[in-house]
Amino acid sequence: MSNNDVVKTLIQSKVSLAPMAGITDFVLRSLVRKYSPNCLLTTEMISSEYLAQTLNGRSGVEILKRDENHSPISYQISGHKPYMMKQAAEFLTQYADMIDINMGCPVKKVVGGQDGAALMRTPELAADLVRAVKDGTDKPVSVKFRLGYTADEMNYVEFGQAMQDAGANFITIHARTRAQMYSGQADWSKIKVLKENVDIPVFANGDITSIEDAIKCLELSGADGVAIGRGALGDPTLIGRIVHFIKTGERIPIPPLEDRIEMLKTHLYEEIKLRGENVGIKFMRKFYPYYLSGFEHAKQLRSKLVLEENLEQINNILSQTTFFQVH
Ligand SMILES: Cc1cc2nc3c(=O)[nH]c(=O)nc-3n(C[C@H](O)[C@H](O)[C@H](O)COP(=O)(O)O)c2cc1C
Repeated sequence: MSNNDVVKTLIQSKVSLAPMAGITDFVLRSLVRKYSPNCLLTTEMISSEYLAQTLNGRSGVEILKRDENHSPISYQISGHKPYMMKQAAEFLTQYADMIDINMGCPVKKVVGGQDGAALMRTPELAADLVRAVKDGTDKPVSVKFRLGYTADEMNYVEFGQAMQDAGANFITIHARTRAQMYSGQADWSKIKVLKENVDIPVFANGDITSIEDAIKCLELSGADGVAIGRGALGDPTLIGRIVHFIKTGERIPIPPLEDRIEMLKTHLYEEIKLRGENVGIKFMRKFYPYYLSGFEHAKQLRSKLVLEENLEQINNILSQTTFFQVH
């Protein structure tokens, strides 16, 4: 089977979990998988330099961890040195169904090092990276990028074509420029031009937080599917609900607060299992605003939770959420 055919099977659900550093770890991926048996999962970005220098061929570390049922799963790498990207791809081939290259991260530290969205300004280097990664793996290779670096440099159509010509098998595009970071609205309609000018599948990304958003984005962009990032936070069922709607036209409702609290607890306990109690409790703090919102006293509960270091106390606070909802 050609890699283009392999991609078709990997993306058949038409929905993927977008990579998010410090967020889409083993635990969140497992939670999303629980409610979506066949969506494409993506790891957090893994630096090729880190893989080469720090990890040095060691397996078993948290960032690489996966379960049997995580397939289809894409491992995302970042970097700008072709030989290191090739090495990273060689190493990750044992874990990944697809290798994704980060060409969209807008963070200063990343673009300052010529990685992420900076590659949109150096399309020849970006194409070299695709070729190097292809050399390192027999798995499909995908790229994730933005509309361009600034509003005056919206080169995403030519850029996508260049990546395809270099051998990329799949594209995810976040419909913002680097300069926008995460501000404003993702412009899904822009993706249509890219879709019309490449032959490889394109997933649209940015600001999809509901079934309605996903359908509207698919209509406006003409894309083959959607990638969901922040929308999956606080609701690990969203991706599964979108997949189900696309397949059947049936709308599974948003989980009620009681269910979200149970998901939060699973998330917390699994992070503790993965990282130990102290680190796991602290790691979870960034997720509370997403799980605990939209009900009376949510803010007070969250401000108590983020200071709490004791698991028993956290459980006590969480049991009060149901109290607040009922009374
Ligand atoms: C906290 C955070 C971390 C992210 N890390 C990555 C990353 O490692 N690699 C990447 O390509 N994009 C990363 N992104 C961008 C997302 O994949 C996605 O493109 C962006 O959030 C827009 O989609 P959304 O509105 O569905 O979240 C990150 C976004 C956030 C909010």
